[in-house]
Amino acid sequence: MMNSEALAALIRPDSVHKSVYTDPAIFALEMERIYGRAWIYVGHESQVPNSGDFHTTRIGSQDVVMVRGQEGQVKVLYNRCPHKGAKLVAEGDGCVGKFFRCSYHAWTFKLDGTHLSAPLRPGFEGTNYNPASPEFSMRPVARVDQYRGFVFASQSPEGISLREFLGGVASSIDNLCDRSPVGEVEVAGGVFRVQQPSNWKVFYENLHDTMHARVTHESSFVAAREEAEAIGEMPFELLIQDANGEPYAFWEKLELRAYHRGHGYMEGIFDPNAATRDPVSRAHFACLTEAYGEDRARDILGMNRHNTIVYGSGSPHTVFQQFRVIRPLAVDRTLVEIQLFRCKGAPPEVYDRALTYANLINSPSSNVMPDDVEVYRRCQEGNNTFGGDWVSLHRYLGTDRTLPDGAVSTNGTSELPMRNQFAAWRDYMLDDSPLHPDTSTTTTATECPHHAA
Ligand code: FES
Ligand SMILES: [Fe+2]
Repeated sequence: MMNSEALAALIRPDSVHKSVYTDPAIFALEMERIYGRAWIYVGHESQVPNSGDFHTTRIGSQDVVMVRGQEGQVKVLYNRCPHKGAKLVAEGDGCVGKFFRCSYHAWTFKLDGTHLSAPLRPGFEGTNYNPASPEFSMRPVARVDQYRGFVFASQSPEGISLREFLGGVASSIDNLCDRSPVGEVEVAGGVFRVQQPSNWKVFYENLHDTMHARVTHESSFVAAREEAEAIGEMPFELLIQDANGEPYAFWEKLELRAYHRGHGYMEGIFDPNAATRDPVSRAHFACLTEAYGEDRARDILGMNRHNTIVYGSGSPHTVFQQFRVIRPLAVDRTLVEIQLFRCKGAPPEVYDRALTYANLINSPSSNVMPDDVEVYRRCQEGNNTFGGDWVSLHRYLGTDRTLPDGAVSTNGTSELPMRNQFAAWRDYMLDDSPLHPDTSTTTTATECPHHAA
């Protein structure tokens, strides 16, 4: 395994070694040292409204299942039967009923994962089979917590709290929820799934990469402008594609916030009068004014934030109510699942607008996202050549202002977000303290229930 010195040498203040995107051994270590420790978003509690409802996902390399228990609490369990290791539930969302029942030999488990029964009990007599032992139950992920309905889990039994982990980006989740007059959102509809032939970190870097917009997305913003000219107006559908064509001077004025642990957001991209600009916003504003008063409603809808980054989990979007969940699958393969949220109690057109945005900007069939996926693929393939070893992060290095909880850019085209993500990456990856102390329940070979001596 790569020692700490070798790992540290991959990250310079102004560049990173390309092997962080291409080396399978580094990817495997990321699964342990980042995904084995960090709080990772597993899903929203609205995805499991009733007892027995489940939603499957991954924490790094681990298949897990989020399930609503008998008493209403949400659990996150490894998706593994303790008999021969079969996954207890297939990928997706569903309901197991009152208990899990393995599809292989019918061992059953309560909704909290504890062992319930196994058929033909006499067959275990005289063996170490012990239903009360954790060895014969589904193993829970070490820590689970939620923030305003957003459920996160950490595979590490120790570490900072979820609230501390989220730091400055918790306010993006707050704003997403506050856009509902009752302060709650729910996942609505299915998800868009995009599998990208590139390393997971490239996606996080691109989320605040303002220099690529008018280059990579030229075909879509030019087409939007031509269409607007032809029809004599710029409807919402074209406006959101047109935005990528803003001149460099526009992107330079934005503010990039970088928080500890790789998080951050971009501010200043939308019209400051967004709260009352168009009919959908006006209806939303009227609804929130009734619930919270005019000043608060203006503050909520005026929060001008784009592409929040929760490093390791994905990107919640406050203005267009979505969470792009980012799942590393392999060193050169990443799954992005786009969840859409309905603000409970808000006018229905607010959800319709979020759906339009996702369809046109983020979905697999959008005019915009495929541009990004293509450049990610090119980065992955280019970095596999012998054409050079380092990836540049030089832009506006040394000019960003340091804050107690992170930093802020002095120019919106700064590569501060990427440098901040790699600072967090380095912290995680150089931490070689032991992982998963909860595995102490592992039996020795002589205790193994099926191969007892
Ligand atoms: S593998 Fe689950 S009951 Fe056998
Ligand atoms: Fe893009």
